[in-house]
Amino acid sequence: MIEGRGRTLYGRRRGKKLRAGQEALLDTLLPKLLIEVPSEPQKLDLAALFGGTREVWLEVGFGAGEHLVWQAEQHADVGLIGAEPFINGVAKCLAHIERLGVTNVRLFTDDARLLMAALPDRSLSRAFVLFPDPWPKTRHHKRRFVQRATLDLLARLMKPGAELRLATDDPSYLPWVVEHACVHPAFEWLADRPSDWRNRPADWPPTRYEQKMLAGHKPVFLRLRRR
Ligand SMILES: C[S@@+](CC[C@H](N)C(=O)[O-])C[C@H]1O[C@@H](n2cnc3c(N)ncnc32)[C@H](O)[C@@H]1O
Repeated sequence: MIEGRGRTLYGRRRGKKLRAGQEALLDTLLPKLLIEVPSEPQKLDLAALFGGTREVWLEVGFGAGEHLVWQAEQHADVGLIGAEPFINGVAKCLAHIERLGVTNVRLFTDDARLLMAALPDRSLSRAFVLFPDPWPKTRHHKRRFVQRATLDLLARLMKPGAELRLATDDPSYLPWVVEHACVHPAFEWLADRPSDWRNRPADWPPTRYEQKMLAGHKPVFLRLRRR
């Protein structure tokens, strides 16, 4: 079971030294957007977070936030929550938010599972996990974000009919995602033919990681529907 406390987070929290402008955004803009997780067993009040009732979408591991902010700009009536513990990425996301003037994004700067433990059941209308760290070595597979327990929790948090979008460019993560997510009893894989997952949907802009594409493999775009 996923617990709200005591998660082990793998991966970096900080990269190279932040520029003064980035530090300034972390000091001034982040406090206005930052999500504080309430102590258990309380749940986050999403209407209070977004100043009214609206659909809420979650992006886990938003990296530098281009996709998150793009979705926020395209869907001004939706509340977007992004979770990302890598502070350099958070600073870049804040710069996108400020540049585009979007007001419907809130950020959580820690392990997404801590946030997810505080979300109400059936509160999410869409969730994105795009290019999660692949952890290709077998002994590191337990570090992968896509796990049965995380998917069970997502299933609990997502409304019936809500869409879960997953992407990877790692050849060993694709069969893993199929085995764990696509056959999960709470989700229906929205694919009839290979082109349904090989081609990028129009409302799915490339992420920074994808553009760098260090591994050089072709990405896959998986769409699942909460049953
Ligand atoms: C390979 S990067 C991809 C970033 C972004 N989605 C993109 O496509 O550009 C994976 C990201 O997931 C973040 N991450 C890893 N574990 C996480 C967790 N438990 N909760 C939230 N983010 C996480 C990492 O900090 C990293 O930024």
